[in-house]
Amino acid sequence: MKTYDIVIIPSAVLKQTAQPVAKVDDVIRAQMDAMLQTMYDAPGIGLAANQVNLLNRVLVMDLAVREEEEAEKPNPIFMANPQVLWESEERSIMQEGCLSIPQQYAEVERPAKVRVKYLDYNNQEAELEAEGLLSHCVQHEIDHLNGVLFIDYLSSLKRNMIMRKVDKLRKQNIL
Ligand code: NI
Repeated sequence: MKTYDIVIIPSAVLKQTAQPVAKVDDVIRAQMDAMLQTMYDAPGIGLAANQVNLLNRVLVMDLAVREEEEAEKPNPIFMANPQVLWESEERSIMQEGCLSIPQQYAEVERPAKVRVKYLDYNNQEAELEAEGLLSHCVQHEIDHLNGVLFIDYLSSLKRNMIMRKVDKLRKQNIL
């Protein structure tokens, strides 16, 4: 299975806006498959096209638990051109991380629930209503497609601290 390299901050592609796909065809499906495998290998629960240096509006997620003892069946969600149709006024705070910001975590506040419209793996229009971790995850991945990172919600002090830590990891060749 083909996989991609994951782009790390402060790469410019992470700050760029991805463009809509015309339709989910075999080329996009191959991209989705390779993104999913890249995410599983990392491992992570979500991955957006910007993170593999592609600027189209494609993301993949899978929140199924993969640890051996309580492993669940894979449950991948593929989205092209996702659009938030509705978000709750109620807010939710959860700790988030990001494969493009390795080993760094912070609490992020977002709308608690969202309803998202998208094109699925078969180019069919679909909707997802999400709360909890899935809600944070889908909002985090859609943010990526708009060039927004979870650290953008933090104070500049915290953000700079995280960026310095990632820089240090890179210099130590840990990444
Ligand atoms: Ni991320």
